[in-house]
Amino acid sequence: MVLEKSRSIRYLADMNFWQLLPRPFAVLAPMEDVTDWVYRKLVCDHGEPDVLMTEFTSAAILCSNQPQRAMERLMVYEGEFARRPLVAQIWGADPTQMEKAAKLCSQLGFAGIDINMGCPVKKISKKGACSALIRFPSLAGELIQAVKQGSQGKPVSVKTRIGWAQPETEVWCGHLLGQNLAALTVHGRTVAQKSEGKADWVEIGKVTALRNQISPSTLVIGNGDVTRAGAEGLRRLSGVDGLMVGRGVFSDLGIFRQDGYHCYTDWPESVKLSLLERHVTDHRNAWQGKKDYEKLKKFFKNYTAGFEGALELRQRLMDTHDHAGSLAVLNQWRGARRL
Ligand SMILES: Cc1cc2nc3c(=O)[nH]c(=O)nc-3n(C[C@H](O)[C@H](O)[C@H](O)COP(=O)(O)O)c2cc1C
Repeated sequence: MVLEKSRSIRYLADMNFWQLLPRPFAVLAPMEDVTDWVYRKLVCDHGEPDVLMTEFTSAAILCSNQPQRAMERLMVYEGEFARRPLVAQIWGADPTQMEKAAKLCSQLGFAGIDINMGCPVKKISKKGACSALIRFPSLAGELIQAVKQGSQGKPVSVKTRIGWAQPETEVWCGHLLGQNLAALTVHGRTVAQKSEGKADWVEIGKVTALRNQISPSTLVIGNGDVTRAGAEGLRRLSGVDGLMVGRGVFSDLGIFRQDGYHCYTDWPESVKLSLLERHVTDHRNAWQGKKDYEKLKKFFKNYTAGFEGALELRQRLMDTHDHAGSLAVLNQWRGARRL
């Protein structure tokens, strides 16, 4: 993403790293079943965002006597903490659990703690957590205070949406800006919209204006439909300090590069297939059967687009049942095409 800025800062642990970032800065969005350490490493090796976030992680499970599933979401690769600030994203509705989860994440070495107040999935919002907090602002405030208490001085941020059924940006985000957060990420859609329609960057701009009045030290991060070509325009429109990229990285793996490197869609077939091979192999080696192979399939379309026969290859890959199966399909395809 070619944004005008200097990248001269180095990340130092135990500081409010948000304040050290260049402006504007770029963040890789937290994405469940996507941004595990395998994918974060793949992304960083092709263009480093300034900040990364883990998948959202349940505070209740972290605090239970079987925390393994949640701990898997907090796994990092060797050297990751020294590379770029990595923020643990947690969710929950119980202040005591959130405080304990924040303490654990801080002790594990994460650079900051982010609270998910935007996930629209019903089975989660029914528990009064994530996006449901838009309807329970006083609980949201309690959770933020609890996480601050547990975070041992690490910066605390929130990621949310512009409203529940309709935009209620000023009231909701105004409330959050009253909590003295290090950063606030605003996804420019309501909960009801889920991922549909276009993200509303005019609403995001309202948050930046409010921030200037209520909490000048809180950084505002805009999120929703950011692409390489559109990034600078959205930043200018909204005045945000940073941009968060989610799905935009799927079709443009080099989106965080600073050198105007050409878009991933233009990369040759052989490069895309090497990346696919790396992703499948790393996923197999990292998780050794602990993660469902089927979830890896959501990535296949990222690598099988923009070359002749791509759809046919994708179909063959989608019919596989394990890592060995997809690697065999890939080998056979490359052999036939002499790649
Ligand atoms: C597969 C997937 C998983 C997601 N998981 C999370 C999550 O764990 N935490 C979170 O705050 N948002 C999550 N999101 C929302 C994204 O972080 C982001 O807000 C949303 O995709 C809009 O940004 P985009 O248009 O750049 O993709 C997820 C989105 C996708 C597509």
